[in-house]
Amino acid sequence: MPDSTSRLPGFYNQSLAERGKAVAAWGGLTPEQLAALEGSGGLSPDQADHMIENVVGLHALPLGVAVNFLVNGREVLVPMAIEEPSVVAGASFMAKLARAGGGFSAHVTEPHMIGQMQILGVADLHAARLALLENKARLLDLANQIDPVLIKFGGGARDLEVRVIGDSMIGPFLVAHLIYDTRDAMGANAVNTACETLALTIEQITGGRVHLRILSNLADRRLARARCTIPTSELAFGDFSGERVREGIIEAYAFAAADPYRAATHNKGIMNGVDAVVIATSNDWRAIEAGAHAYAARGGRYTALSTWGKDKDGHLVGTLEMPMAVGIVGGATKVHPTAQAALKLMKVTNARELAEIIVSVGLAQNLAALRALATEGIQRGHMTLHARQVAIAAGATGKQIDMVAGKMVAEKVVRVDRAEAILKEMQG
Ligand code: MEV
Repeated sequence: MPDSTSRLPGFYNQSLAERGKAVAAWGGLTPEQLAALEGSGGLSPDQADHMIENVVGLHALPLGVAVNFLVNGREVLVPMAIEEPSVVAGASFMAKLARAGGGFSAHVTEPHMIGQMQILGVADLHAARLALLENKARLLDLANQIDPVLIKFGGGARDLEVRVIGDSMIGPFLVAHLIYDTRDAMGANAVNTACETLALTIEQITGGRVHLRILSNLADRRLARARCTIPTSELAFGDFSGERVREGIIEAYAFAAADPYRAATHNKGIMNGVDAVVIATSNDWRAIEAGAHAYAARGGRYTALSTWGKDKDGHLVGTLEMPMAVGIVGGATKVHPTAQAALKLMKVTNARELAEIIVSVGLAQNLAALRALATEGIQRGHMTLHARQVAIAAGATGKQIDMVAGKMVAEKVVRVDRAEAILKEMQG
């Protein structure tokens, strides 16, 4: 049966309860899963008390659902947990433009994480490096004895690499990288355990001392990539021709590609989308943030994670490549009821599909920001959204909301008293 479309016209004008009902029907959510999306967050204080220490309560965020997404030909509704206005609307709108070019194509590499072991006090670094490589099979075997469940699901140790750090403030030392396939898990626990287990054998082989044993968040063996093509005609709006918007976006990208100050903000826009889905699924957004920015600096100079250009037909083409260490099993993803409902809504059955959606949302979000910045500026969109909120606060409902908001934005006076007055005039 084909997926129902993620185009839900008028979704943004519905009440909270109507939207909840619509997404529950769309995603086949149980009443419990719907309840976990609605209200104050689905997590009970008791559950929270088992997740971290010294719990006194919960911290809630708005959970929105981005519409219009087509990822690898699959219709997707995307749950996004974020406090910033315009993000969910921006993603939804850009996903609509991207649909006209076939949506997002996304893929991921194998879920290979890197575990690092710092080996100090080695007399001959190069000889010790070779000794470790000669013992690779034995070390990988040892690592694979730790987690039979992961092995059963096709994961486990894949490779061992050894680097010499020739120059540091404590002198030269060795670093061993255990490359570990974590399948549908984010994998921090599995990798850290494997590194700790290997330490003794590594010390015996090298004659050194294994100091740190910890996963690297520069997950450059676990990349997610997305690409989209936006027909130029789709970019036109108001007084802006499609060509002008396209060129403006490419010029904006050139700025980020050349200047770290702009690249940081450009990438922040990407992370607005990425983090919101990572948080909605209770994945580790600090890990994703660390990986993204380290990856952006991999060439020795911090730069943009995405690219924007045009194809031979003149259509705008965007790409995004970044580390994406997310899981759907283990940790909070399994414990948090909202995360479970979010995964169900997206109909993802493995970490790969989740990563493909997240990287597509990151690209959509980047496009939303660049399109606004390259044309009317970012504040107008923010103002419109703010004006809608003010109109609702003044008592506007249904079609009145956009009418009242539109008038306030045109007048550049966005206040509740003005919204009330406009509403009165309309009703009169
Ligand atoms: C704001 O949260 C994000 C932007 O600054 C991103 C950008 O400048 O590309 C609008």
